Amino acid sequence: MKIIVVGTGYVGLVTGACLSDVGVEVVCVDVDQQKIENLNRGILPIYEPGLEEIVHRNAQKGRLTFTTSIKENIAETDAIFIAVGTPEGEDGSADLKYVIAVADEIGTYLEDYAVIITKSTVPVGSSLKVKEAIADSMKRNGKSIPFDVASNPEFLKEGAAISDFMSPDRIVVGVNSERAGKVIEQIYKPFLLNGYRMIFMDIPSAEMTKYAANAMLATRISFMNDIANLCEILGADINQVRNGIGSDPRIGNKFLYAGIGYGGACFPKDVKALMKTGADNGHPLRMLEVVEEVNNRQKLVLFHKLKNLMKGDLKDKKIAIWGLSFKPQTDDMREAPSILIINELIKEGAKVNAYDPVAIKEVHRYITVPVNYTDDEYTALEGADALLLLTEWREFRLPDWGKVKELMTNPLILDGRNIYNEKELESLGFEYHCIGVGKAMKI
Ligand code: UDX
Repeated sequence: MKIIVVGTGYVGLVTGACLSDVGVEVVCVDVDQQKIENLNRGILPIYEPGLEEIVHRNAQKGRLTFTTSIKENIAETDAIFIAVGTPEGEDGSADLKYVIAVADEIGTYLEDYAVIITKSTVPVGSSLKVKEAIADSMKRNGKSIPFDVASNPEFLKEGAAISDFMSPDRIVVGVNSERAGKVIEQIYKPFLLNGYRMIFMDIPSAEMTKYAANAMLATRISFMNDIANLCEILGADINQVRNGIGSDPRIGNKFLYAGIGYGGACFPKDVKALMKTGADNGHPLRMLEVVEEVNNRQKLVLFHKLKNLMKGDLKDKKIAIWGLSFKPQTDDMREAPSILIINELIKEGAKVNAYDPVAIKEVHRYITVPVNYTDDEYTALEGADALLLLTEWREFRLPDWGKVKELMTNPLILDGRNIYNEKELESLGFEYHCIGVGKAMKI
């Protein structure tokens, strides 16, 4: 079996690497020459636990290769995954220009039957556009090679992408031909050993499944954040409420954590894109408008708490920040709440010391205001008037509290991820605030 994966971004690289790891010959293609040169030297464009090892192992064995040319590698290919970016266009919809450009190139060079599988997150109806682009390009080139298109959305979580790919809960496949279905089944067979399910459906439903899943998860988060804020006012505790409702199997206990809002490459973009699809088709998705609004507000909840605690005056206050990436185990800064929080702090005249275990090298593209980045979490605390925990990296879970207190000028902790224990910290002499735990009305 031979597979081409076009796009060596997050999804493409994980897909290519994991498929090669079960013995498939995989050619990863990207237009970015520098990226390909780096990959050929073993340098990866992203940080994802476990990925580097898989890439190195399979590149060494010669079954994972990197190139800029679809044309030179298309012979005898069974399937081509399209995993290029679909950036958010100006109007909030997913921009398909890269996907269509790849489809056009495939149409130009395809020599034999292959299944063209869209893995990028694309609006409902895009696979049809891919099919048309391939057919048009074939026509222009005076050829007619049989092919099928399919939709195979990914559900990878950053930081856990390898295990998500290797042991998926489910693999969703949208196809309209038996032949294509068989090819895709063959590709994924090695990953279905533990009884995981492959769910076949029609192409528009597969495309919609991806958006509906992310929109539902984003909704859960905004819902919990909204309830958390009310808990604070009423003197309830969102952590206890979460345990209470999560034990109902209809609700389930996952993805119910209140915090400082969702970020990342998927939720914000996909929620917007689905809203745009709804509006364009005469069916505005009112719920998602609120999900987004609540999330935007939530990203600054910690900043407002701090400002209130400082009686509105943050000028020259030294603020320590632990964690910058939008979640742990990734260097991804896209839509991270830290960006907005730091911008507001600097606007108010505060001085910011920040530490993140891996995102530091990425931050300059996202945070342009002056911040002092430190090499470890303790240095960030020197002389601090407050500590803001923004990303729940494992290494922040059990710090040396004695040292923390000694280093800070004012032992004030604002925990944006509810990872610390209020009683413990208060007994150690800290003032502690988190998300969704009311203090005002303790009975
Ligand atoms: C998400 C989906 O989970 C994945 O299936 C899809 O393919 C891509 O988008 P990812 O963006 O990597 O994955 O991160 P995820 O772990 O889902 O977290 C998203 C955001 O939600 C983070 O900002 C996280 O901090 C936040 N979150 C998550 C909460 O605030 N509370 C929760 O209970 C869970």
